[in-house]
Amino acid sequence: MSESLIETEALDARPEGIARAAELLRAGALVAFPTETVYGLGADARNGAAVAGIYATKGRPSFNPLIAHVADVAAARELVEWNDMAEAMAAAHWPGPLTLVLPLRSGHGVSPLVTAGLATLAVRVPAKACARALLKAVGGPVAAPSANPSGRISPTTAAHVRAGLGGKIAAILDDGPCAVGVESTILGLAGAEPVLLRPGGLAAEEIAAVLGCPVAERDASDPLSAPGQLLSHYAPQAAVRLNATDLRPGEVFLGFGAGVFDLNLSERGDLREAAANLFGHLHALDALRRPIAVAPVPEVGLGVAINDRLRRAAAPR
Ligand code: TXA
Ligand code: MG
Repeated sequence: MSESLIETEALDARPEGIARAAELLRAGALVAFPTETVYGLGADARNGAAVAGIYATKGRPSFNPLIAHVADVAAARELVEWNDMAEAMAAAHWPGPLTLVLPLRSGHGVSPLVTAGLATLAVRVPAKACARALLKAVGGPVAAPSANPSGRISPTTAAHVRAGLGGKIAAILDDGPCAVGVESTILGLAGAEPVLLRPGGLAAEEIAAVLGCPVAERDASDPLSAPGQLLSHYAPQAAVRLNATDLRPGEVFLGFGAGVFDLNLSERGDLREAAANLFGHLHALDALRRPIAVAPVPEVGLGVAINDRLRRAAAPR
């Protein structure tokens, strides 16, 4: 099973670093890059061999489709059938932590490995300036899941990426920690009604406010409504216990709000701060190799995305 290791270039967000990252991507190599949500593992979305490399490197189940990242709305519209709801959402929240799932447009050029054979494509314009500069320089869609081995904690720093994928990818573009800290919200707009396919960095309430209608939750029994939403995901090596109000012997305590904890997602009980800290704190506690108890986090706003990730981290594997 052992693969030979390559040297993973460390690039920074200055123009030369971005140009080098774009050159590597255009040549079919894998490059990790920062977005405002998490670090992504990028490949040229039109190059099937490069996209296959994402699946192989992450050890990702092949039925799990990927998000195509583009520099702006115009680039998105070349790939998918645009509609009024997409226009409203993009106008309000792109660039930003929002992914839209829309029908593929003919002549899109995207490898079927990106969509895992579906007739729809997930697209997003990331907010981080460095990511958009990279996408402009590449000049085409970049497929990118989170830059971690499949099933493990998502990376919010370049160091997290190197710990998980160093030696296996061509380069890591480093532009500091991710401000949002949880993955994008995925909104399905391919049918008559909008469907929330994955809670994430944009709260569902903000989507309803733009569309002027409630957003349906995805039907969890329908595998096609959000393929690849595996129950056990974001998993630390150690066991995770949720809604803990006390500490059991041997555990480390991840807190939220006032209290005595080993690490705190947000002392002042701020959900934005908690989202930004979530994966970093899980990485840090996981390094202690002890079971992790997690204090309750309220199920409102960004708390929905935080609890979704925590439940997957705690799920039986
Ligand atoms: O914030 C993010 O979204 C990060 C950064 C790197 O942009 N990316 C990310 O990608 O979280 P990933 O691969 O971990 O999650 C993509 C999810 C898949 O699990 C799948 O459920 C959903 O997007 N997805 C992709 N294409 C889809 C489609 N055509 N229909 C429904 N769901 C889709
Ligand atoms: Mg992921």
